[in-house]
Amino acid sequence: MKRALVTGGAGLIGSHLADLLVREGWTVRVLDNLEPQTHRRGKPDWINKHVEFVEGDLRDRETISAALDKIDVVFHEAAYGGYMPEIAKYVHVNSFGTAQMLEVIREKKLSIQKIIVASSQAVYSEGAGICPNHGLVFPPVRPIQQLRKGDWQVHCPICGAITKSAPTPENAPVGGETVYGLTKVDQEKLVLLWGKQMGIPAVALRYSCTYGPRQSIFDRNFLHPVAQQFAAGSLRRRRTDPRLFVCRGHRAREFARRRNGQAR
Ligand SMILES: NC(=O)c1ccc[n+]([C@@H]2O[C@H](COP(=O)([O-])OP(=O)(O)OC[C@H]3O[C@@H](n4cnc5c(N)ncnc54)[C@H](O)[C@@H]3O)[C@@H](O)[C@H]2O)c1
Ligand SMILES: [Zn+2]
Repeated sequence: MKRALVTGGAGLIGSHLADLLVREGWTVRVLDNLEPQTHRRGKPDWINKHVEFVEGDLRDRETISAALDKIDVVFHEAAYGGYMPEIAKYVHVNSFGTAQMLEVIREKKLSIQKIIVASSQAVYSEGAGICPNHGLVFPPVRPIQQLRKGDWQVHCPICGAITKSAPTPENAPVGGETVYGLTKVDQEKLVLLWGKQMGIPAVALRYSCTYGPRQSIFDRNFLHPVAQQFAAGSLRRRRTDPRLFVCRGHRAREFARRRNGQAR
C-alpha cells in the first residue's frame, strides 16, 4: 500500500485528490494550515474521514518534517494563491515552503519515491497565438495602454497582426507576470531541478482555471464570479457549455471542473 502526503489537502484540488487516493487504497496524510483567506469558516466538513489530517503550516520546518515521515509520494498542492498585494507571503509559502520541503527530504534522506507539484497556467504570459505572417508566436502580456483603448486582441510581437489563440505547448516560454505566477515558476523549477539532481521522479502539472464543489467562496482568483456560476451549475442549466466562457466575443477560455480527483 502506498502512502501519500497531500499538502493543501483541505483545498479544492487537494481534497478531491485525497478522496481519489483513499478510494484507490492509498494511506493518505493531509497537511493544511486552513489558510484563513480560503477557509474563513474553519475546518471544512469535506475532509475525508479516512485521511490523517494534520493542521499545520508547511513553512514550519518541524511540521513539514513530521508530515513527510514514512511517505512514498508527495502531492504538493498547498500554495498561497490569487492576486493579493502580499508579495512576501507568496514567496514565503510557495517558494520558500517548497524549497524547505525539498531540503528536509534530502537532509533526512527520506525515501520519497515521487513528487508531483501543482504548477499553473500563470507561468505563461498570454500563451500561444497564431500570427497570419509568423505562425506560432508567444506574445507578451497586453499593455495597459492598449486595453484602455478597448483593444482586447493579442497582437503578434513581431508584426503586430492580430493573432488567433492556439493551444499553448509545454515548451512555451515561462516567466510569470504576477508575483503568484513567479512563485509558481519557482515551485516547478525547484521541484524539477531537485528531482533531477536527486534522481527522484518529479512532475509539475500546470493547472488552468480549475473550479468545482469545495472551491472557496473567498477565492481571490479574478475569474471568481464566473467560476462560482460554473460551480453552481447555473450556466449549465442555461445549456451553455460550462467549459467555455467567451470573453468579449473573441477569445475563449477553458475551465476544468474538479471532481473525484480528476478534471472533467
Ligand atoms: N484552482 C485553480 O484554478 C488552479 C490553477 C492553477 C494552479 N492551481 C494550483 O493548484 C494548487 C491547489 O489549488 P486549489 O485551487 O485547490 O487552492 P485552494 O486554496 O482551494 O487550496 C490550497 C490549500 O492550501 C492550503 N495552504 C495554503 N497555505 C498553506 C501553508 N502555508 N501550509 C499548509 N497549507 C497551506 C490552504 O489552506 C488550502 O486548503 C495550488 O498550488 C494552486 O496554486 C490551482
Ligand atoms: Zn506576425
